[in-house]
Amino acid sequence: MIVKADKPVGLCSDHAGYELKSIIEGYLMSQDIKTRDFGTNSTESCDYPDYAHPAAEAVEKGEVYPCIAMCGTGNGISMTLNKHQGVRAALCWTREIAELARQHNDANVLVLPARFIAPEEALAIVDVFLNTPFEGGRHQRRIDKIAVK
Ligand code: RB5
Repeated sequence: MIVKADKPVGLCSDHAGYELKSIIEGYLMSQDIKTRDFGTNSTESCDYPDYAHPAAEAVEKGEVYPCIAMCGTGNGISMTLNKHQGVRAALCWTREIAELARQHNDANVLVLPARFIAPEEALAIVDVFLNTPFEGGRHQRRIDKIAVK
């Protein structure tokens, strides 16, 4: 389990991801995993960057680890999160992609496409993401080349 005892798992979404975020929050709580919710807090239409930027800043400061984010497609919130140098947000719609996002990319944010994934599958992806370690080695070298100086 990559969850750290002293750090909550971050959660953020826009309106399109709100219901899935609530399901995931309940699931994590049932597993005794602490969470910090950056919103949004309803299905009222909103703008995903307003929630993604604070969550990304908390990841960069080490206040949360990892983070789970979602919007309708997962694309807008991924684009926003990945503007932050310390964030590696991976859009995952299968368990295998989530596994590889951890093994090869050391992803610190799991992004889910809330309008295109069943809740049961999303929870299975969350489980894989939280339980897969980074492989390091050649993948660390590649990650070290991602940042724009
Ligand atoms: C909201 O309608 C939708 O555009 C948003 O959730 C997301 O899919 C954007 O990338």
